[in-house]
Amino acid sequence: MSDTICHCMNVDRETIVKAIKEKNLTTVEEVQDATTAGTGCGNCIPDIEEILVENS
Ligand code: FES
Repeated sequence: MSDTICHCMNVDRETIVKAIKEKNLTTVEEVQDATTAGTGCGNCIPDIEEILVENS
């Protein structure tokens, strides 16, 4: 079980990390397009930015 990062869209950390690595994503917008994470209330965007920093 991986922790949920985006509660609006129910996207977990593993899904985001996998998308970043497989598609070489570098921006929040690219993560939003690839996973839908961050496309609701926006509260998880700082977490997405952190995951991008950790995995790029
Ligand atoms: S928690 Fe991700 S958009 Fe609301």
